[in-house]
Amino acid sequence: VKAVILVGGEGTRLRPLTCHCPKPMQPMVNRPFIEHVFTHLARHGVRDIILSMCYLPAVIAEHFGDGRRFGVNLTYVCEDTPLGTAGAVKNVEQHLDDTFLVLNGDILTDLDLTAMLAFHRQRRAALTIALTPVEDVRAYGLVELGERRRIRRFIEKPQSLEGITTNLVNAGTYILEPYTLRYAPANEFYMFERGLFPTLLEQGEPLFGYASDAYWLDIGTPQKYQQGNFDILAGAAQATLPGTPVADGVSAGAGCQIAPDAHLIGPVVLGERCQIGAGARIVGPAVLGDDCVIGPGASVERSVLWQRVQVSGSADQLAPAALQGCVVANDTVIGAGCFIGEQVVISNHCVVGAENRLDRGLRLWPHRSLPPKTITF
Ligand code: GDD
Ligand code: MG
Repeated sequence: VKAVILVGGEGTRLRPLTCHCPKPMQPMVNRPFIEHVFTHLARHGVRDIILSMCYLPAVIAEHFGDGRRFGVNLTYVCEDTPLGTAGAVKNVEQHLDDTFLVLNGDILTDLDLTAMLAFHRQRRAALTIALTPVEDVRAYGLVELGERRRIRRFIEKPQSLEGITTNLVNAGTYILEPYTLRYAPANEFYMFERGLFPTLLEQGEPLFGYASDAYWLDIGTPQKYQQGNFDILAGAAQATLPGTPVADGVSAGAGCQIAPDAHLIGPVVLGERCQIGAGARIVGPAVLGDDCVIGPGASVERSVLWQRVQVSGSADQLAPAALQGCVVANDTVIGAGCFIGEQVVISNHCVVGAENRLDRGLRLWPHRSLPPKTITF
């Protein structure tokens, strides 16, 4: 069975993290997100993968090459303009000659693909959609089931909850028979959710929903992206973690220097060559990418730092910087006396001057410099 992974979206809700780094390459506990998807597929024997790209394709292809190093066999197809989710699959139809999988490229899940495939075959379905229960269905595609879990209605991103009787949504994993693509127009923008699925339903094709309560998360917003990292750290989502254990709940890559009196409270993952200064505090869940430098006395709590982030210790009578609940991308410097709070997203190559206080989901775009004492709350 081959899998098509849709990775063409611009990841607008994850901006500014996606300005230079497409959603599938967002570091998820120090590995590009899509690597976790590859591992999940390979665990179920799916190794032939077609990546349907559009936005920043080179970043993906240059990292993974033919995929062999990652235990998979990759084929890249790139659209000139976005073709929509179903249009993107129609565009790779020549590679698909048997029952195949389609995956949204931003889903972290432990879904049992083997069992789902057995369900699909046993029902002789044209299409099986994985379903997952969510609390607020409005951000997702709602799927209503009838007898024997046959799909009877699609409501994509319902505006209101009136008349809604289920909390099961499209989980972004589909199994399809190749003939279903006959209903999709070639070289046109066309979506599964608002186009092909409703069309197949109207045509009376056998469509089924495979509901499960396996771990599931769409990483498409900063809050969910952060949650994905933390869920992996907590062991709620299956994943192989990089690094080796150095203390209870703390693992570190090669070449880290951790001051003897630094406090590290797990779950914490450090990349390679991180330096943690005297008296610094890292309170999990927290992830630091390669080559991060945490100055003496500085603190990082419940945060995700990418590579080469510098967090200043005390300087010129200023207190050390403190980070709490934020995401900081590559090559950013946080000055002394700064407080960076909940849901704040600081992009790559930023310099946050001393004594700034960024809080409440503030987002700083790439290559911005904030002079000292520019923002307070
Ligand atoms: N190649 C390609 N071309 N890929 C695309 C395109 C395109 O034009 N548009 C979107 N994608 C990819 C995105 O990169 C992403 O991996 C996936 O398709 C889904 O797009 P999102 O933008 O993340 O959709 P969503 O999260 O709002 O909604 C979808 O996923 C939900 C589950 O997370 C829908 O399928 C919902 O019905 C579903 O509930
Ligand atoms: Mg999504």
